[in-house]
Amino acid sequence: MSGISRFGISINSSLLEAFDKLIGAKGCTNRSEAIRDLIREHLVENEWQEEDRETVGAITLVYNHHLRELPEKLAELQHQDFNFIISALHVHLDEFNCLEVLVVKGQSRNIKKIADRLIGTKGVKHGKLTMTTRGKDLT
Ligand code: NI
Repeated sequence: MSGISRFGISINSSLLEAFDKLIGAKGCTNRSEAIRDLIREHLVENEWQEEDRETVGAITLVYNHHLRELPEKLAELQHQDFNFIISALHVHLDEFNCLEVLVVKGQSRNIKKIADRLIGTKGVKHGKLTMTTRGKDLT
């Protein structure tokens, strides 16, 4: 699987114009690179659809550490899933609020469950699972 393939795309002019405007606003002037990014994005999304697929991601959590038992609860959940959480970063945002970033690795079904459990913990103000890839199948 090497080499470069070229192909033509038939596309509605106004759709292409909107696409060029969008990528231009993001600072991208190379249409081919923008299309490659979209394809990679789609492949990564597809990886996460396969429940057994080994993948990686990051879970972010924002919460008030003064909330009774919340820090302990979150720590307990993370210790239960220590096999999947390969790194953790804690930032004290202000007097009350904390941000945690957990780097997770494992089968997508397990990672999604862990993220849902942590994000769904009562008192967590905002949480998000960023699904990315081990990159092995992307060039
Ligand atoms: Ni903190």
